[in-house]
Amino acid sequence: MNLADGGATMAASDFALFMGQLFRKPHQVVALAPSSRGLCAEMVAELDPTKGPVIELGAGTGNITRAILDAGIAPDACHSIEMNSDFCNRLRANFPGLNVYQMSAGDCGDLPVDNVQAVVSGLPLLSMPVQLQRDILGGFAKKVAPGGAYVQFTYGPKPPVTKVVRDELALTWRKSHKIWWNMPPARVYRFHQG
Ligand SMILES: C[S@@+](CC[C@H](N)C(=O)[O-])C[C@H]1O[C@@H](n2cnc3c(N)ncnc32)[C@H](O)[C@@H]1O
Repeated sequence: MNLADGGATMAASDFALFMGQLFRKPHQVVALAPSSRGLCAEMVAELDPTKGPVIELGAGTGNITRAILDAGIAPDACHSIEMNSDFCNRLRANFPGLNVYQMSAGDCGDLPVDNVQAVVSGLPLLSMPVQLQRDILGGFAKKVAPGGAYVQFTYGPKPPVTKVVRDELALTWRKSHKIWWNMPPARVYRFHQG
């Protein structure tokens, strides 16, 4: 069924769960709707099944998770963090074999995986405190293989990592074209160290 997601296949029950949690925990979910198919495609466009595992942050009901798996990443090579227990239960039910961790993304540096090719984030990063952003990007720096990327979408005009953290970690970035078919329209940023 197509539900406010640009034609991606998303179960009505997943959409209902997302909207219900958005209503109950707006400061955690911080999105009008799940990411669209076009946005998910851009988030995973540079993943390569031969280049190692992936960490996903803020998986929600799994639209980006599905795109990661469709890009050829095996479920057991995908490590998805989500703090909301209802979303975690749904991820476990929908994606057998996926590594699902109910925890804060700020602790991603503790995951039992190294040399990841990318950290793919659906987090509302810019609305988070600077220290939490520092912990998340610090975890990325610890876990990523040389040349790997931190991939983050944003709805606004600025890079979605605050300047002080970008400077501390010497992050450079590229940004995508605007993805209009998303609610609201978004861009994808790819951050690298050095
Ligand atoms: C904007 S939604 C994105 C959901 C999904 N990835 C998508 O793109 O449709 C943000 C998600 O991040 C989760 N989240 C927010 N803060 C978090 C944190 N500190 N650690 C882990 N997950 C968090 C929320 O529960 C929510 O599922």
